Amino acid sequence: MTAFAVDDAMAATASPRLVALTPDHLPQALSLSLALQWPYRLEDWAFALALGHGIAVEVGGRLVGTALWWPYGDSHASAGMIIVAPWAQRRGIGRMLMDELLGQAGGRTIILNSTLEGRSLYAQLGFAAYGAIHQHQAVLATRPVTVAVSGTVRDFRADDRAAILAIDRAASGMERANMIDALFPIAAFRLVEREGAVRAYGCVRPWGRGVVVGPVVAADPEDARALIADLMAPHVGRFVRIDVTAASGLTPWLLGVGLPKVGDVTSMVRGQPLLAEGAATLFALSNQSLG
Ligand SMILES: CC(C)(COP(=O)(O)OP(=O)(O)OC[C@H]1O[C@@H](n2cnc3c(N)ncnc32)[C@H](O)[C@@H]1OP(=O)(O)O)[C@@H](O)C(=O)NCCC(=O)NCCS
Repeated sequence: MTAFAVDDAMAATASPRLVALTPDHLPQALSLSLALQWPYRLEDWAFALALGHGIAVEVGGRLVGTALWWPYGDSHASAGMIIVAPWAQRRGIGRMLMDELLGQAGGRTIILNSTLEGRSLYAQLGFAAYGAIHQHQAVLATRPVTVAVSGTVRDFRADDRAAILAIDRAASGMERANMIDALFPIAAFRLVEREGAVRAYGCVRPWGRGVVVGPVVAADPEDARALIADLMAPHVGRFVRIDVTAASGLTPWLLGVGLPKVGDVTSMVRGQPLLAEGAATLFALSNQSLG
């Protein structure tokens, strides 16, 4: 009997066990996401787990399922990295992970971006669709044409933190200081400043197959395009990814920049609808999991 056959025989008879996802699980978690052709690196898994809470299902000691969630303030959270190994699917493990996640997150409003495969499970659990996300990516062949804005596009300074958190809160309807504070050391942040006030922010960081641009929060699409072009400019020749809301209207412009749309997912919410203030808009996500 091969090692695989022994494993499979064990897995078929053992019952699924819910445990906390720990850093020791991450090499196996990476294998699960690579098998789906999801681009996370080990560093991306470690970043996500350190920022939030992870749930795992093991069968016969083997990791077969993951689900993570990230609290945003006391009332909201994002969920993602929800994976069940293909051979273990349709046995209720996805449901088991989500029931535990919903229990841990208490009464929080939870957002997630669902693949087609996840939608029915999430709908059964009370999630409702509220939007769509367009995934754009490619090796960036040329530097995007600079987009003129009134005001200046400039680097982040430490005293910008409060202004960034405020416009992010207005745009996302959530208190995402923990996520943004974790991005400061690993991402390059740029801002649009006009009349002495921060009007827009965006950042780019190493992620997946190259770099990811986002979050991008701005009052209007011109500022968003200016920031995105500016953030991408140093990365010509690299693999660049950006996940924008369908409502942003940025898809045609991104196609022109040379970033094809390669997929889309459905934004879903369970609980109170998000109350963005309207003073700023979330144009691009940090990534599909973190929101
Ligand atoms: C989405 C995903 C996590 C669901 O995991 P899963 O373990 O298959 O989920 P469950 O078994 O709890 O439920 C899935 C379906 O199986 C059914 N099911 C549950 N137990 C079952 C059983 N014992 N026998 C047959 N079917 C069963 C459920 O009713 C559900 O059916 P439905 O989709 O027709 O409503 C999994 O398909 C996956 O990892 N997909 C790839 C990654 C992905 O897209 N993740 C979602 C990201 S947002």
